[in-house]
Amino acid sequence: MAGAKLIERVPWDCAALGREVFELKSAAPEALAQARTPGHYTVKVDPLADKRILHEHGFYYCDTLVEPFCAAAQFKPLPHPSAAFRLDGPLEPLLAICRGAFEHDRFHRDFSIERARADLRYENWLRALYAAGKVYGLLWDAGLAGFIAHEQGKLVLHALDRRHRGCGIAKYLWSAACANLARQGAPELTSSISATNLPAVNLYASLGFRFRNPLDVYHRVIS
Ligand SMILES: CC(C)(COP(=O)(O)OP(=O)(O)OC[C@H]1O[C@@H](n2cnc3c(N)ncnc32)[C@H](O)[C@@H]1OP(=O)(O)O)[C@@H](O)C(=O)NCCC(=O)NCCS
Repeated sequence: MAGAKLIERVPWDCAALGREVFELKSAAPEALAQARTPGHYTVKVDPLADKRILHEHGFYYCDTLVEPFCAAAQFKPLPHPSAAFRLDGPLEPLLAICRGAFEHDRFHRDFSIERARADLRYENWLRALYAAGKVYGLLWDAGLAGFIAHEQGKLVLHALDRRHRGCGIAKYLWSAACANLARQGAPELTSSISATNLPAVNLYASLGFRFRNPLDVYHRVIS
């Protein structure tokens, strides 16, 4: 990887977490050696890799990510007359669903990050995706029940309102939005979820997605 950057500053996470935030591109010794200045560091590694060097450098485990995927041509939506979506709704009700929705992710599971700051990270991200016109409002019986934000066929951020969770309707709401992404030419539908988020894992499984690219996520704080 001659010339490749081993470490990158993550400006949007700096803004949300209120400190310097960096992502290491590898867990090789020369990359780990670049984590020197105060800040919050992330590295994502093959779950089967030897983690000794990470522990020696003060990194701790936070999460395991998996990537649900489905070729658009293979996607079989489960239609339901109550499920629909809109692309032109207001931002505030989407933010209300977003606030406090995420708890399986690496930011909420990292003991060094205040919950309010972890929430702010997702709120900021949703604002940016909304400004770019990439958020489906998910409607159940014409009322807002959740959202899916996407980038190039990847479902990057999604949640249901608490009142609509656990009712078994997510697969119908996902079907409406995913079918539209497929119609618009996305060759493959993908996402990235925590392996511990079993409602999300089972949701994607019920829609015929398979899973690939597991990654263990490690964090380190230098004060
Ligand atoms: C992820 C999310 C959209 C799923 O919606 P949901 O309404 O909770 O899911 P459902 O009730 O439809 O359940 C989905 C599947 O998971 C199963 N499931 C639900 N809760 C479960 C649990 N605690 N353990 C194991 N399986 C579970 C259900 O049985 C269902 O499978 P089935 O269709 O085979 O019966 C919702 O939980 C949510 O918004 N969570 C907060 C935000 C989030 O985590 N987003 C994903 C990361 S970006």
